[in-house]
Amino acid sequence: MELILANPTGFCFGVTRAIKELENSLDTFGKVYSIGSPIHNPQEVKRLQDKGLVVVRSAEEIPHGSVVFVRAHGEMPEALKIVRQKALLIIDGTCPFVHNAQEKAKFLVDEGYHLFIVGDPEHPEVKAILGAVSNRGTVINDPGVINSYGSINRCGIISQTTQIKDLLGSVVSGLIPFCNEMRVYNTICKATLERQDAIRELASRVDGLIIIGGKNSANTSQLSKIADQQNIPRLWIEDSEELDPEWFSGKNTIGIAAGASTPDWLINKIKLILEHR
Ligand code: F3S
Repeated sequence: MELILANPTGFCFGVTRAIKELENSLDTFGKVYSIGSPIHNPQEVKRLQDKGLVVVRSAEEIPHGSVVFVRAHGEMPEALKIVRQKALLIIDGTCPFVHNAQEKAKFLVDEGYHLFIVGDPEHPEVKAILGAVSNRGTVINDPGVINSYGSINRCGIISQTTQIKDLLGSVVSGLIPFCNEMRVYNTICKATLERQDAIRELASRVDGLIIIGGKNSANTSQLSKIADQQNIPRLWIEDSEELDPEWFSGKNTIGIAAGASTPDWLINKIKLILEHR
């Protein structure tokens, strides 16, 4: 069986940077708090918890005088306000591309545009962007609902950084008939676009695709959707125990791709197991 690794795949710039800062702070302070998972990969989070990371559900749970890590997806302003009052030190792991999306959202709202955020309304990054503009925006992940908005004078559009560009394109073209003026910032990050292009290219060369990444990871979910769009058999796993032997039947060439929050050690572990099948 031949294995081909997508290129690029795995950790992106923003996650590499966030994990490095988090590990440095764990080495220095021993215990560091994070509201929610610092990145969306349960295996990597477990590794960090073993080093002293404490994941809590809300800012209220953080004890006074602690060291707090702000995750790569950013944090809601209300939570940050509480953290600032309680923390001894805040390590900001927010990806610069997420900061950029927040800044573009603020600019559009300040300039009087009706802000549309193309993304998943439940994702922490989208919630943080919406929070940065005091909820003055509409989150959209289904162009089918556009008809219900009616006419809008000025439309400002940005995207969750990990979205598929086709969805951004569909929302933009769907809104055109309803907007007198439109301003669009493509805030999908380069790392996301490169990983999505890599999986499209790989799909044409293999009999099946294994996608490694957290089931809670937005960008891994998009890779999985792209594989389905290419009509290629795909197996989305978080770890090696999900490698279903039956899935490999009749497949000679297998592609491996991983989400932007999947660590190299996990990719290498699964690759090694597959090499010895
Ligand atoms: Fe940042 Fe893009 Fe990664 S927004 S965290 S570089 S997927």
